[in-house]
Formats: sequence, C-alpha cells, structure tokens
Amino acid sequence: MESANRLKQIPPYLFMELRQKIGKAKAAGVDVISLAIGDPVEPTPEEVVQELARTARDPANHQYPTDEEKGMLSFREAVARWYAQRYGVTADPQKEVLALIGSKEGCHHFALARVNPGDAVLMTDPGYPAYRASILIAGGEPVNVAIRPERGYLPDLRDIPSDVARRATAMYLNYPNNPTGAVATLPFLRDLVAFARSHDIAICYDNPYIEMVFDGEQPLSFLSVPGAADVGVELNSLSKPFNMTGWRIGMALGNADLIAAISKVKENTDSGVFNAIQYAAIAALTRCQGNIARMLQIYARRRELVVATLRQVGFEYTAPRGTFYLWVPTPRGMSSLEFADLLLEKAHVVVAPGRGYGEFGEGFFRISLTVPDARLEEAVERIRQVLET
Ligand SMILES: Cc1ncc(COP(=O)(O)O)c(C=O)c1O
Repeated sequence: MESANRLKQIPPYLFMELRQKIGKAKAAGVDVISLAIGDPVEPTPEEVVQELARTARDPANHQYPTDEEKGMLSFREAVARWYAQRYGVTADPQKEVLALIGSKEGCHHFALARVNPGDAVLMTDPGYPAYRASILIAGGEPVNVAIRPERGYLPDLRDIPSDVARRATAMYLNYPNNPTGAVATLPFLRDLVAFARSHDIAICYDNPYIEMVFDGEQPLSFLSVPGAADVGVELNSLSKPFNMTGWRIGMALGNADLIAAISKVKENTDSGVFNAIQYAAIAALTRCQGNIARMLQIYARRRELVVATLRQVGFEYTAPRGTFYLWVPTPRGMSSLEFADLLLEKAHVVVAPGRGYGEFGEGFFRISLTVPDARLEEAVERIRQVLET
C-alpha cells in the first residue's frame, strides 16, 4: 500500500547499509560493539523506579492523565523549580511549562504548531536528523545552516542570506550539541535572540544535554538570556540526566503562545504522559540530582580513555566540552561511511558516520560513551589495533 507523499520526502536512512551489515555480522555470531547510539546503559535511579511502582498501584492513575496534554500541575511546578534552581530561569508552571513525551516529541509538535506549508525552517548542518523529518512532515522547507569547527560549531547568523531569514518562520538548535559536542556561549545566545526577534523566527532550542558538560563548563539555558521567552521555547528531557530514555518524559518551557500551540497539537494527538511516570519524574527532579554528577564522572573517565587511545594512534584530538559524544575527524582522508565500514569489518565496532548528520558532517565520525566501561575498553583496543596496522 502506498504511503502518504509527505513520508516520501523524508530522506532514506543513511545508515541502512551499515545496519544491514551489523545485522549480518551479529547473525554470524560476531561480537559487535556499538558506539553509535546515545542511550545510557546504567539503570534509572532506584528511587524513581520505586515511585513509579508505588504510583502505578493507585487506580486513580490508571485513568487518562491529569490535565492530559499539559501534564500534572505538580510535574510542571517541579520543572519550574528545577529551572529556577539550576539555571536561574523563571517560568510560570500554568502557562509556560508543558510535559512532553521526550524532547523528540516536542521537536515534532513544535513544527506542527508553528510551521505552515512552504515556510523555510532553519536547522544546523551537521544536526540531529529528526528535525528535518519533522519540518518535512509539517510541510516546511528545511534550510541547512552550516556549523564549522573553526567557529566552535556555532552558526554564523550573519551568513544566513536575508531573503532566507525573511522567509524563515522557525529555527532548530541544540547546544550542548548532538553530534559535535560543542557548547553555546552567552554572547551567541544573545545574538540568536536578537536575530529571532528581528525576523520573527520562533526558536526551538532543544536542550536535552544541558547537564552534560565537562571541564568546568556551566549548564546554560537558552531561557536565561533576556528576551528568549519572547522568541522561543526550550525543550528538555529526563532521558539523559537520569538514565530514563525508555520512560519517555520531557518538558517544554518558554513562550506562552508557543506552549499553548504545542499543547493544542498534543490535545488532538496524544493524551499526555501516564501520571505514574510524571510522579516518578518529579522524584527524579526533586530527589535524584546526585545521579547527574555520578554519571558525569563516569562519562569523564570514558572520554579520557577514548581520547588517550586516539592520541596514541596519532590523532590530534581534544574532546568537546559537552554531551556524551566524541566527534572525531576520520583518518587518512577517508569518507565517514568508508571509515565506519572499515571499523565494522576489521574491529567489529560500530561508530556513527558523520554524513548521516548532514553534508557538513562528512569527514567525521561520532562515538557515544554510553556503553559499559569494559565494552568501551574492548572497543577502543580493537580500534587501536586497526588504526595501527
Ligand atoms: C538533540 C536531541 N534531541 C532530542 C533527543 C531525544 O530525546 P528524548 O529521549 O528526550 O526524546 C535526542 C536523543 O538522542 C537528541 O540527541
């Protein structure tokens, strides 16, 4: 049966061939180690699991979620407190906070809430591929804005042609950045707010890695910049800081009109997040902050391990200051797909080829640090052997 035309515009999955090769190798009994996906393997804090179990037993929570698509007021209040305490951001839990089924869901519904067919929508290249799909599904035209190492992977807003900026109605960004690991600066965010204001561009600042910063870097919320809530929303998530990717819970904060518009889409699409998951998320936000520092220590140790190995085999490489990804240039002028293929064939290690994140991702590969220490050690040892020969 034919699928809708809008789906046909979504580019084919670039890693399909690689994925098939991985499947074949695994089926043949090869011990493949994947460093391609950012999904913490450590369990969710026990207190969060306990809270889910406790609240799941209450039949009141078996009905449609309270306040449905907006999320329970107590969850929205916990989010507002979290933002006030950790990032110095004030948000009204009644009008400026919304529960999400993960920040990915927010990215998608942001497009449906804001983008009209034919609108240009800016996104970075390299960038998180889900933005493009959401823009296309909403009928928009994705416009890539290159981000380059020499500018710290921050877009040069002056580079955006004025006719494109005039046609654009929205822009997606995320710092700490997937895939490059780059972090944003306050002056850049100030420029971004001014740029958005002068062109009436709604910003979708997707910030699920906000807590994932190293080397003394401080978490930075887009909403901490004066005027940011006039021009956009910030999306965040419990997925990464609390090892809760499978739970599917996140939040949107910021511009009240955008929050209301996203909420309207959700009202007609899903009926919100299971109350018990929201109670568990409140437990995470209010009682499990220690998990963040614990995980950062783990990721810092793993970063050092990978960076030291890369240097041993001749890479001049400095780790980025954010996320649990390392974005590394491919050696010997190889294309990212060639290099990923080589590692899969010779080392049985999977890395994400940079080309999958856009044209400007070519020449890089991404390693995720979300694998157990022993597996990561084994993987880097195998990579070292391949690169030495
Ligand atoms: C930039 C970015 N946004 C959103 C997500 C999805 O996060 P969530 O689990 O909150 O939907 C990811 C996940 O890898 C991501 O890298």
